Amino acid sequence: MANKIYKIPSHIAIIMDGNGRWATKRGLPRNYGHREGVKAIERTIDACLKYGIRYCTFFAFSTENWKRSKEEIDGIFELLREYLRQNNDSFFEKGVKISYLGVIDPFPEDLKKALLDTMDKTKDFNKLEVNFAINYGGRDDIVRAVNNLIQNGYTKITESDLLNALDTKNLPEPDFVIRTSGEMRISNFLLYQMAYSELYFPKVLWPDFNKKYLLKALKVYQNRNRRFGGIK
Ligand code: IPE
Ligand code: IPE
Ligand code: MG
Repeated sequence: MANKIYKIPSHIAIIMDGNGRWATKRGLPRNYGHREGVKAIERTIDACLKYGIRYCTFFAFSTENWKRSKEEIDGIFELLREYLRQNNDSFFEKGVKISYLGVIDPFPEDLKKALLDTMDKTKDFNKLEVNFAINYGGRDDIVRAVNNLIQNGYTKITESDLLNALDTKNLPEPDFVIRTSGEMRISNFLLYQMAYSELYFPKVLWPDFNKKYLLKALKVYQNRNRRFGGIK
C-alpha cells in the first residue's frame, strides 16, 4: 500500500524553528508565533501517538536563546507554564510521560514546580515519552556529563560512560531529527547523540506544522538507508 508507514522511528527529535518569522510575516509580535507553536506541539504529540512513535524530544529553548529580549523570554516561559497547566489531564488520558533535558535552575520557581509536578504525575506513563529541551545546549550537556563523571572519580571514560551521563541517559539516540523553517543547521542540539540520526529540513514554519507534515516526514525517513558505516 503506497500510504502505509513502516519503519517508524522510535525517537524523533524536533528543532521547532520559525515561530518568529511566522509572526513577523503577519505583522504580529514574535510571541504570537510562539503561541501558535504550542498548538503545533499539541498536534505533533497526537500524531506521534497515532503513528506509534515512542519518544519525541522538542527543542524549546537553547542555552543561546538567553540572548533574546526579556519580553520574548518571559513570554516563552509563560507559554510553557500555561501549556503544562492546561495539559495535565490530557497527558493523563493519553498516557504521555513528560520530562525535560537541560538545566532548569535559572527558571522561575513556579515554572520549575509546575514542570516537576507534571513529571511526577506522568512518570509511570509509557505510550509516548515527551521531552522538552529547555535551557539545553549539546555542548553544555557534554561538559556537565564529563564533570559529573570526574566528580564520581572517573579518570578515563568510555563512550558508554559518557552516553550514560548525558541528559538523554534514559532515552535511545534520536533516529530522526527534524528542523522546520528551512534552516540547515543543528544550533547546538543533541550533538553527541545525533552521530547517526537521519536529518530532515522541511521548509514549513513550526506554527504550521501538523499531522500531514509529520506523515510526510515519516515517508522521507522510511526511504532513508541507514548504514551506520556498514554496507547494505
Ligand atoms: C523557534 O522559533 C523557537 C525558539 C527558538 C524558542 P524562532 O523564535 O527561532 O523563530 P525564527 O527563527 O525567528 O523565525
Ligand atoms: C534553535 O533555534 C533553538 C530552538 C528551536 C529552541 P534558533 O532559532 O535559536 O537557532 P539559530 O539562532 O537560528 O541557529
Ligand atoms: Mg529561529
